[in-house]
Formats: sequence, structure tokens, C-alpha cells
Amino acid sequence: MTKAATEVPLDLQRAAREHLWLHFTRMGGFRDGDVPIIVRGDGCYLEDSHGKRYLDALAGLFAVQIGYSYGEEMGEAAAAQMRELPFYTNWSYAHPRAIELAHEIASLTPGDLNRVFFVSGGSEAVESAWKLARQYYAARGEQRLNVALAPTGADAPTRVDEAHAAQGSRRWKAVAHRLAYHGTTLGALSINGIPALRTPFEPLVPDVIHVRNTNRYHRPPEETEEEFTAFLLDELETAIEQAGPETVAMVIFEPVQNAGGSFTPPAGYWRGVREICDRYEILLCADEVITGFGRLGAWFGSELYDIRPDLITCAKGLSSAYAAIGAVVATDRVMEPFLEARSMYTHGITFGGHPVQAAVALKNIEIMKREKIVEHVAETQDDFRATLSQLLELPIVGDVRGTGFFYALELVKDRETRETFTEDECELLLRQFLSPRLFERGLICRADDRGDPVIQISPPLIAAQAEFDEITGVLGDVLAEAWQKVTA
Ligand SMILES: Cc1ncc(COP(=O)(O)O)c(C=O)c1O
Repeated sequence: MTKAATEVPLDLQRAAREHLWLHFTRMGGFRDGDVPIIVRGDGCYLEDSHGKRYLDALAGLFAVQIGYSYGEEMGEAAAAQMRELPFYTNWSYAHPRAIELAHEIASLTPGDLNRVFFVSGGSEAVESAWKLARQYYAARGEQRLNVALAPTGADAPTRVDEAHAAQGSRRWKAVAHRLAYHGTTLGALSINGIPALRTPFEPLVPDVIHVRNTNRYHRPPEETEEEFTAFLLDELETAIEQAGPETVAMVIFEPVQNAGGSFTPPAGYWRGVREICDRYEILLCADEVITGFGRLGAWFGSELYDIRPDLITCAKGLSSAYAAIGAVVATDRVMEPFLEARSMYTHGITFGGHPVQAAVALKNIEIMKREKIVEHVAETQDDFRATLSQLLELPIVGDVRGTGFFYALELVKDRETRETFTEDECELLLRQFLSPRLFERGLICRADDRGDPVIQISPPLIAAQAEFDEITGVLGDVLAEAWQKVTA
């Protein structure tokens, strides 16, 4: 008898409790309760180990753009690549899939964002962008110095000031939004503006300056959008001035900020941010780990808001999360000093541009184009907003905000005064009631209180009216119950 035939099947529930360590999870909660085990998916739906179905209104984690039904096609692309070349590295070598994917991404990103550095996920992308920005100034300084020292000749520039070239060759600071999430590796974590995530790991990587984000919900009601934009830009510029602009390497913001609940930018904000970055020669990075690849109804938020960043970080939707791959995309200007004969970006990771991950990402982009996924978001986003906006009839829903397929509901105690819940109330309302009840009702979305309490809704980009209705229906019932609890 073979070993397999005598083996007792693994008790998944028990093994999960004994061996698996879930991310950002209070593991103690599973001493008495079941670990939720998701076993399969199709379309916008998931199924757990008891056969119960869930509408995944969070698309994995803002990631599964094409939904869960393309495993066959993606799997074939992965298998073909496995047969041909299961692995080779991007350290000093190229291979066809990384080249094709870099070419494809360069064609989708706006402007001259033409150079792609592959990594394994969003945190690594942010980490790599910051390191790249730090090294850029040194590389540019050296480049200028080389030009200055070059022998004069017919085609050699001659009026470069050597002192100027050497000066400003070291910048390291980053500027980010308060409450913004940018990942968990130490560099990315330092950029993070969420105190609860930062505190356990302090001291963090120097130096990050956090400025006000674009949350307008709690601003004075009489303030115009224009005034709000001016107020934010003024604060940003003051912060840069105080930090010493010659030490600031990078400003990194999301086109629409996720943590805190889908903060869209006020009109003119991005134009102003770009101008400030230009004024102080600071690199602007758009963190598009969530907003990239269609979530906002355009391939990139940078295109939607005309951000014109020097760097884009992306991951998640690049492969619809069917593969662990991310990227930093840089403009020609950023690349230029690294094209000098002896210059090199001193950074790399084994799995960056992994051929199988790249093949899957290429297939994902092919499917997104073929199925017109981005067009679908652009065409149906108004219906999604209109359907979700029905929830504004509930006294507990203060705000419905976002764009594309990227929304948040802010929960309030009083819609008139916009008064929010206390920390203890949030614990009871979000963690102890809403999260489990929504799950029980077969809806996966996120009740989040990293800022003011919000429910985040970010379905796969194939969702349509039936899913918009189901999301809104379940949320309506559960939030009505929540209100009864709050007012009881
Ligand atoms: C804007 C942003 N940046 C970076 C990250 C980190 O990505 P990952 O979890 O793939 O490391 C996230 C993750 O949610 C994100 O939302």
C-alpha cells in the first residue's frame, strides 16, 4: 500500500490554527473560532471550506481586477513559461517575458514613463522607488561632474558649474500623506502615515515628512474646493521648505488615497503638487499599487489626473494578483544618469521580473484589453456610485466617496455635525459587529478604522449592476442593524 493511501487527510482547520500565521490578524481570536478558509473562486465570488459563497467586494485586496475565473488561461500561460524557462534572473540578464512586459507597461503608462524595474509586490515597489530617488541625486551629481570635467571639444558642454554639480548630490527625505498606507517593509513602512502601524517598529528609516491628505469631509463646510487645494499646497510647500528642499528626494502620494477611505484629490491639487516638485527639483512618485491597472476607470490614476509623475509604483492589478509581481516605472529623465558608462542603480532582488510571474502579468493585460475591463469601469462607474449612494439614506452613513470602482462609506454618529465614533465605539461597531456580520451575510468588504471609521468597497473590475445591487443591499441591511445597536 502506498503512503498516500494510508495517510489521513489533513485537517485544514486544525493545521491552520496550529501552523499558519495570518497577516495583520489577531490570531488569539481563533482559539475558540474557525479560521476562515477560502477554497475556490469564480467571477466576483469566493467559496469557503463549508461551501458558503461570498461576494468579494474587495477584489482580494484591491487586486483581482479580472475576477477569479481566468485560472485556466492564466495557468496555461504560466505552464508554457515553466516549460520554456521556469526561472532566470534580471540581475545582469534579460529574458523575453520581462522585456515584453516592460514594453507593454511602458506603452500603458502616460508620457515618457518608459523604464520598468520589476519587484515582487507593492512594498518592494515603494521601497525601490525611495532607494531609486535617493540614488538618483547622487548619480545625477556625478553625471554633472563628469560633464564638467570632460575635456572641452566641439560637442562637450562647457558651462557647467562644478561646484553646483557636486552640490545637492545627496538627498534622502521623502514626503507622504498622513494616514496613507504604502506597505510594510521598513522603508515603505517609514513612508506609511498610519501611527498604529509605525509605532511598534520605531525608530524607522529617516526621514519622512507627513503632510495633510486630501480628506475634505471634516473640513469647514464653507471652504471652497479651490481654497482647500490652496490650503493643502501651501502646507506641502511649507513642509518642504522647513525640511530643507535640497535634502528632499521624493514626494510620494496615491492618486486616490486608500487608507482613511478613498480620498480623491480636489481640483488643481495634482497640478500644484507637480509645480512644487518642479520648483524644488524633487521627484514625484505616484503610488499606483491600488489605482493602477484600471481601478479608477483609466489604466493609471496618473493619466486620469494628469499627474505627470517621475515614478510610478504598481503591483496588485498588474497581474490581477494571479502572480506576485510589482514594478517601479521611471521616466527617461530619471533613467538618464543611470545610463552613464559606470553608473548603476545599486539594487535588486532575486525574483524581480521572474519569467513565470511576468508571463502571467502579460496574460492579464491581454485579457484586460480583450475583455475591455478598463472601458467597463469607465462606462459603469456612474451606475456604481448611484447605487451605492442609496446608502446615504441611512443615518449612519455620512459620506460615500471615491471614483471608478474604488469607494468608501464613512460612518458617523451624527450626519449633521459629522461627529465620528470614539475608539471604543469603533472597536464595538467595526470589529465586533460589522466585520463578522458582513462576512456572515456573504459579503467581503473592509470595515476600517485606521482613520475615521469607513467601509471600503473595491470589487473586481468585472462587477456589474447585479453585484452593485447585492453589495448595496447587504450593506443596507447590516448598517441599519448597526445603527440600531448604536442607538439602543
Ligand atoms: C498604495 C499602496 N502601496 C503599497 C502597498 C503595499 O503592497 P504589498 O502589500 O503588495 O506589499 C499597498 C498595499 O495595499 C498599497 O495600497
